[in-house]
Amino acid sequence: MTTTQNLKAGVMGWPIHHSLSPRLHGFWLDRYGIDGSYEAFAVEPDHLPATLRGLKARGISGVNLTIPHKVAACAIVDELDPAAKRIGAINLVTVDDNGRLLGRNTDAYGFEQNLLAAGFKKQNGVAFVLGAGGAARAVLVALETMGFTEIRLANRTLDKAEKLARDLSTPDCAISVVGWENASQGLANVELLVNATSLGMDGQPPLDFPLENLPKDAWVTDIVYTPLKTALLDQANMRGNKIVDGLGMLLHQARPAFQAFFGVDPEVDAALREHVLAGRS
Ligand code: ATR
Repeated sequence: MTTTQNLKAGVMGWPIHHSLSPRLHGFWLDRYGIDGSYEAFAVEPDHLPATLRGLKARGISGVNLTIPHKVAACAIVDELDPAAKRIGAINLVTVDDNGRLLGRNTDAYGFEQNLLAAGFKKQNGVAFVLGAGGAARAVLVALETMGFTEIRLANRTLDKAEKLARDLSTPDCAISVVGWENASQGLANVELLVNATSLGMDGQPPLDFPLENLPKDAWVTDIVYTPLKTALLDQANMRGNKIVDGLGMLLHQARPAFQAFFGVDPEVDAALREHVLAGRS
Protein backbone atom coordinates (compact mmCIF):
# COMPACT_ATOMS: atom_id res chain seq x y z
CA MET A 1 0.00 0.00 0.00
CA THR A 2 1.12 3.52 -0.67
CA THR A 3 -0.23 6.84 0.47
CA THR A 4 0.90 8.78 -2.58
CA GLN A 5 -1.66 11.47 -3.50
CA ASN A 6 -3.20 12.72 -6.71
CA LEU A 7 -0.80 11.31 -9.25
CA LYS A 8 -2.05 11.81 -12.78
CA ALA A 9 -1.22 9.77 -15.89
CA GLY A 10 -2.95 8.53 -19.02
CA VAL A 11 -2.78 7.30 -22.58
CA MET A 12 -2.77 9.39 -25.74
CA GLY A 13 -4.00 8.20 -29.12
CA TRP A 14 -6.22 9.21 -32.03
CA PRO A 15 -8.77 7.71 -31.79
CA ILE A 16 -8.48 6.49 -28.21
CA HIS A 17 -11.89 5.18 -27.14
CA HIS A 18 -10.95 1.50 -27.75
CA SER A 19 -7.90 1.62 -25.49
CA LEU A 20 -7.90 -0.94 -22.68
CA SER A 21 -5.15 0.91 -20.81
CA PRO A 22 -7.45 3.00 -18.53
CA ARG A 23 -9.18 -0.19 -17.43
CA LEU A 24 -5.85 -1.92 -16.88
CA HIS A 25 -4.22 0.88 -14.88
CA GLY A 26 -7.51 1.58 -13.08
CA PHE A 27 -7.54 -1.99 -11.77
CA TRP A 28 -4.04 -1.56 -10.34
CA LEU A 29 -4.85 1.87 -8.83
CA ASP A 30 -7.73 0.22 -6.95
CA ARG A 31 -5.74 -2.83 -5.97
CA TYR A 32 -2.84 -0.85 -4.52
CA GLY A 33 -5.01 1.86 -2.96
CA ILE A 34 -3.30 4.66 -4.85
CA ASP A 35 -4.92 8.08 -4.94
CA GLY A 36 -4.25 8.68 -8.61
CA SER A 37 -5.91 8.71 -12.00
CA TYR A 38 -5.23 7.28 -15.43
CA GLU A 39 -7.26 8.81 -18.26
CA ALA A 40 -7.64 8.40 -22.00
CA PHE A 41 -6.66 11.54 -23.91
CA ALA A 42 -7.74 11.95 -27.54
CA VAL A 43 -4.86 13.88 -29.11
CA GLU A 44 -4.75 14.76 -32.79
CA PRO A 45 -1.35 14.14 -34.39
CA ASP A 46 -0.83 17.89 -35.01
CA HIS A 47 -1.37 18.61 -31.31
CA LEU A 48 1.02 15.97 -30.00
CA PRO A 49 4.13 18.19 -29.57
CA ALA A 50 2.30 20.89 -27.59
CA THR A 51 0.35 18.33 -25.58
CA LEU A 52 3.48 16.46 -24.51
CA ARG A 53 5.26 19.73 -23.71
CA GLY A 54 2.29 20.74 -21.57
CA LEU A 55 2.23 17.63 -19.39
CA LYS A 56 4.20 19.14 -16.51
CA ALA A 57 2.02 22.27 -16.37
CA ARG A 58 -1.05 20.01 -16.10
CA GLY A 59 0.53 18.00 -13.28
CA ILE A 60 0.66 14.81 -15.34
CA SER A 61 3.60 12.56 -14.46
CA GLY A 62 3.62 10.66 -17.73
CA VAL A 63 1.62 9.06 -20.50
CA ASN A 64 1.46 5.99 -22.62
CA LEU A 65 1.26 6.50 -26.36
CA THR A 66 -0.64 4.43 -28.86
CA ILE A 67 -1.50 4.61 -32.57
CA PRO A 68 -0.63 6.88 -34.38
CA HIS A 69 1.84 8.61 -32.02
CA LYS A 70 4.51 6.03 -31.28
CA VAL A 71 6.98 7.00 -34.03
CA ALA A 72 6.29 10.75 -34.25
CA ALA A 73 6.83 11.21 -30.52
CA CYS A 74 10.46 10.06 -30.79
CA ALA A 75 11.31 13.42 -32.37
CA ILE A 76 9.50 15.38 -29.64
CA VAL A 77 10.96 13.96 -26.42
CA ASP A 78 14.28 15.16 -24.96
CA GLU A 79 15.78 11.73 -24.49
CA LEU A 80 15.21 8.16 -25.69
CA ASP A 81 16.10 5.00 -23.80
CA PRO A 82 18.19 2.37 -25.66
CA ALA A 83 15.22 0.12 -26.51
CA ALA A 84 13.28 3.08 -27.90
CA LYS A 85 16.25 4.13 -30.06
CA ARG A 86 16.62 0.65 -31.46
CA ILE A 87 12.91 0.09 -32.07
CA GLY A 88 12.31 3.60 -33.40
CA ALA A 89 9.06 4.02 -31.49
CA ILE A 90 7.97 4.89 -27.95
CA ASN A 91 4.92 3.84 -25.97
CA LEU A 92 5.81 5.63 -22.72
CA VAL A 93 6.77 9.23 -21.94
CA THR A 94 7.71 10.32 -18.43
CA VAL A 95 8.31 13.85 -17.21
CA ASP A 96 11.15 14.57 -14.81
CA ASP A 97 11.26 17.34 -12.18
CA ASN A 98 12.73 19.78 -14.70
CA GLY A 99 10.02 19.05 -17.25
CA ARG A 100 12.32 17.02 -19.49
CA LEU A 101 10.53 14.28 -21.45
CA LEU A 102 12.01 10.77 -21.49
CA GLY A 103 10.73 8.41 -24.19
CA ARG A 104 10.77 4.70 -23.49
CA ASN A 105 9.63 1.57 -25.26
CA THR A 106 8.22 -1.21 -23.09
CA ASP A 107 6.64 -3.27 -25.87
CA ALA A 108 9.72 -5.48 -26.32
CA TYR A 109 9.84 -5.96 -22.54
CA GLY A 110 6.14 -6.84 -22.52
CA PHE A 111 6.59 -9.37 -25.30
CA GLU A 112 9.49 -11.07 -23.50
CA GLN A 113 7.82 -11.07 -20.07
CA ASN A 114 4.63 -12.55 -21.51
CA LEU A 115 6.56 -15.54 -22.85
CA LEU A 116 8.67 -15.99 -19.72
CA ALA A 117 5.59 -15.79 -17.48
CA ALA A 118 4.04 -18.62 -19.54
CA GLY A 119 7.08 -20.82 -18.85
CA PHE A 120 9.08 -20.26 -22.02
CA LYS A 121 12.81 -20.61 -21.34
CA LYS A 122 15.33 -18.25 -22.94
CA GLN A 123 16.69 -19.77 -26.15
CA ASN A 124 19.75 -19.40 -28.34
CA GLY A 125 18.16 -21.00 -31.38
CA VAL A 126 15.91 -19.98 -34.26
CA ALA A 127 12.78 -17.81 -34.16
CA PHE A 128 10.40 -17.14 -37.04
CA VAL A 129 8.51 -13.83 -37.27
CA LEU A 130 5.62 -12.92 -39.57
CA GLY A 131 5.29 -9.17 -40.12
CA ALA A 132 7.51 -6.12 -40.51
CA GLY A 133 5.48 -3.25 -39.05
CA GLY A 134 5.99 -1.37 -35.79
CA ALA A 135 5.00 -4.31 -33.61
CA ALA A 136 7.42 -6.58 -35.45
CA ARG A 137 10.30 -4.19 -34.70
CA ALA A 138 9.64 -4.51 -30.97
CA VAL A 139 9.32 -8.29 -31.29
CA LEU A 140 12.67 -8.57 -33.13
CA VAL A 141 14.46 -6.51 -30.48
CA ALA A 142 12.89 -8.67 -27.75
CA LEU A 143 13.98 -11.89 -29.47
CA GLU A 144 17.54 -10.60 -29.69
CA THR A 145 17.48 -9.71 -26.00
CA MET A 146 16.20 -13.20 -25.24
CA GLY A 147 19.27 -14.71 -26.89
CA PHE A 148 17.96 -16.06 -30.18
CA THR A 149 20.86 -16.34 -32.63
CA GLU A 150 18.83 -16.56 -35.85
CA ILE A 151 15.54 -14.97 -36.84
CA ARG A 152 13.70 -15.74 -40.06
CA LEU A 153 11.44 -12.90 -41.11
CA ALA A 154 8.58 -13.00 -43.62
CA ASN A 155 6.38 -10.10 -44.69
CA ARG A 156 3.91 -9.52 -47.52
CA THR A 157 5.90 -6.43 -48.56
CA LEU A 158 9.40 -7.79 -49.07
CA ASP A 159 11.18 -4.40 -48.96
CA LYS A 160 9.98 -3.75 -45.43
CA ALA A 161 11.31 -7.11 -44.21
CA GLU A 162 14.64 -6.46 -45.94
CA LYS A 163 14.92 -3.04 -44.32
CA LEU A 164 14.20 -4.47 -40.89
CA ALA A 165 16.76 -7.23 -41.40
CA ARG A 166 19.36 -4.61 -42.38
CA ASP A 167 18.46 -2.30 -39.48
CA LEU A 168 18.26 -4.87 -36.72
CA SER A 169 20.65 -7.74 -37.54
CA THR A 170 23.53 -7.94 -35.07
CA PRO A 171 26.74 -10.00 -34.94
CA ASP A 172 25.00 -12.24 -32.40
CA CYS A 173 21.67 -12.51 -34.19
CA ALA A 174 21.30 -12.76 -37.97
CA ILE A 175 17.90 -11.83 -39.41
CA SER A 176 17.24 -13.49 -42.76
CA VAL A 177 14.28 -12.71 -45.01
CA VAL A 178 11.99 -15.51 -46.20
CA GLY A 179 9.52 -15.08 -49.09
CA TRP A 180 5.92 -14.49 -47.96
CA GLU A 181 4.26 -16.93 -50.37
CA ASN A 182 6.20 -20.00 -49.24
CA ALA A 183 7.13 -18.76 -45.78
CA SER A 184 6.01 -21.92 -44.00
CA GLN A 185 8.82 -23.81 -45.71
CA GLY A 186 11.20 -21.93 -43.45
CA LEU A 187 9.82 -23.46 -40.26
CA ALA A 188 12.37 -26.29 -39.88
CA ASN A 189 14.33 -26.07 -36.56
CA VAL A 190 12.23 -23.15 -35.38
CA GLU A 191 11.78 -22.91 -31.60
CA LEU A 192 9.39 -19.96 -31.51
CA LEU A 193 6.92 -18.74 -34.13
CA VAL A 194 5.48 -15.23 -33.75
CA ASN A 195 2.64 -13.61 -35.68
CA ALA A 196 3.39 -9.88 -35.60
CA THR A 197 1.00 -8.99 -38.43
CA SER A 198 -2.56 -7.81 -37.94
CA LEU A 199 -3.86 -10.87 -39.81
CA GLY A 200 -6.32 -12.91 -37.78
CA MET A 201 -7.52 -9.89 -35.78
CA ASP A 202 -11.29 -9.38 -35.65
CA GLY A 203 -12.23 -7.43 -38.78
CA GLN A 204 -8.98 -8.30 -40.60
CA PRO A 205 -8.34 -11.09 -43.13
CA PRO A 206 -7.42 -14.49 -41.66
CA LEU A 207 -3.82 -15.65 -41.39
CA ASP A 208 -3.49 -18.75 -43.54
CA PHE A 209 -0.20 -20.28 -42.46
CA PRO A 210 0.36 -24.05 -42.63
CA LEU A 211 2.29 -25.44 -39.64
CA GLU A 212 3.26 -28.88 -40.99
CA ASN A 213 6.96 -27.98 -41.01
CA LEU A 214 6.98 -26.56 -37.49
CA PRO A 215 8.63 -28.82 -34.87
CA LYS A 216 6.09 -30.15 -32.37
CA ASP A 217 8.06 -28.76 -29.43
CA ALA A 218 8.12 -25.21 -30.83
CA TRP A 219 6.17 -22.44 -29.07
CA VAL A 220 3.73 -20.23 -30.95
CA THR A 221 2.62 -16.75 -29.94
CA ASP A 222 0.45 -14.09 -31.55
CA ILE A 223 0.46 -10.37 -30.87
CA VAL A 224 -3.22 -10.30 -31.86
CA TYR A 225 -5.53 -10.67 -28.84
CA THR A 226 -8.93 -10.04 -30.39
CA PRO A 227 -9.84 -12.91 -30.59
CA LEU A 228 -7.81 -14.20 -27.68
CA LYS A 229 -7.31 -17.57 -29.33
CA THR A 230 -6.51 -16.75 -32.93
CA ALA A 231 -6.83 -19.37 -35.68
CA LEU A 232 -3.02 -19.64 -35.65
CA LEU A 233 -2.96 -20.42 -31.92
CA ASP A 234 -5.85 -22.83 -32.29
CA GLN A 235 -4.12 -24.68 -35.10
CA ALA A 236 -0.86 -24.80 -33.13
CA ASN A 237 -2.61 -26.00 -29.98
CA MET A 238 -4.36 -28.80 -31.83
CA ARG A 239 -1.08 -30.20 -33.14
CA GLY A 240 0.52 -30.09 -29.69
CA ASN A 241 2.58 -26.89 -29.79
CA LYS A 242 2.69 -24.70 -26.67
CA ILE A 243 0.82 -21.44 -27.26
CA VAL A 244 0.88 -17.99 -25.64
CA ASP A 245 -1.82 -15.44 -26.45
CA GLY A 246 -1.15 -11.76 -27.06
CA LEU A 247 -3.11 -10.25 -24.18
CA GLY A 248 -0.21 -10.82 -21.80
CA MET A 249 2.04 -8.59 -23.90
CA LEU A 250 -0.40 -5.73 -23.33
CA LEU A 251 -0.53 -6.45 -19.60
CA HIS A 252 3.22 -6.78 -19.15
CA GLN A 253 4.17 -3.71 -21.22
CA ALA A 254 2.04 -1.70 -18.79
CA ARG A 255 4.03 -2.73 -15.69
CA PRO A 256 7.04 -0.42 -16.13
CA ALA A 257 4.64 2.39 -17.05
CA PHE A 258 2.59 1.95 -13.89
CA GLN A 259 5.75 1.84 -11.82
CA ALA A 260 7.01 5.05 -13.46
CA PHE A 261 3.67 6.84 -12.95
CA PHE A 262 2.67 5.61 -9.51
CA GLY A 263 5.78 4.14 -7.87
CA VAL A 264 4.53 0.58 -7.47
CA ASP A 265 5.64 -2.47 -9.48
CA PRO A 266 2.23 -4.08 -10.07
CA GLU A 267 1.44 -7.74 -10.50
CA VAL A 268 0.05 -9.30 -13.66
CA ASP A 269 -2.31 -12.08 -12.59
CA ALA A 270 -5.51 -13.87 -13.55
CA ALA A 271 -7.76 -11.27 -11.87
CA LEU A 272 -6.21 -8.46 -13.93
CA ARG A 273 -6.56 -10.52 -17.08
CA GLU A 274 -10.25 -11.20 -16.42
CA HIS A 275 -10.91 -7.54 -15.63
CA VAL A 276 -9.26 -6.34 -18.86
CA LEU A 277 -10.94 -9.04 -20.94
CA ALA A 278 -14.35 -7.98 -19.63
CA GLY A 279 -13.70 -4.49 -21.02
CA ARG A 280 -13.16 -5.54 -24.61
CA SER A 281 -15.78 -4.16 -26.99
P1 ATR B 1 1.74 -2.52 -36.32
O1 ATR B 1 2.29 -1.22 -35.81
O2 ATR B 1 0.64 -3.10 -35.49
O3 ATR B 1 2.82 -3.51 -36.58
P2 ATR B 1 1.66 -1.93 -39.12
O4 ATR B 1 2.94 -1.18 -38.97
O5 ATR B 1 0.58 -1.35 -39.96
O6 ATR B 1 1.02 -2.18 -37.70
O7 ATR B 1 2.01 -3.42 -39.64
C1 ATR B 1 1.02 -4.35 -39.96
C2 ATR B 1 1.68 -5.68 -40.39
O8 ATR B 1 0.65 -6.59 -40.80
C3 ATR B 1 2.62 -5.53 -41.59
O9 ATR B 1 3.61 -6.52 -41.49
C4 ATR B 1 1.67 -5.81 -42.75
O10 ATR B 1 2.29 -6.25 -43.93
P3 ATR B 1 2.80 -5.17 -45.04
O11 ATR B 1 4.08 -4.63 -44.50
O12 ATR B 1 2.94 -5.94 -46.27
O13 ATR B 1 1.71 -4.13 -45.12
C5 ATR B 1 0.84 -6.94 -42.17
N1 ATR B 1 -0.44 -7.07 -42.88
C6 ATR B 1 -1.53 -6.29 -42.71
N2 ATR B 1 -2.52 -6.69 -43.56
C7 ATR B 1 -2.01 -7.74 -44.26
C8 ATR B 1 -2.53 -8.60 -45.28
N3 ATR B 1 -3.79 -8.47 -45.75
N4 ATR B 1 -1.72 -9.58 -45.77
C9 ATR B 1 -0.46 -9.73 -45.32
N5 ATR B 1 0.09 -8.96 -44.35
C10 ATR B 1 -0.67 -7.98 -43.84
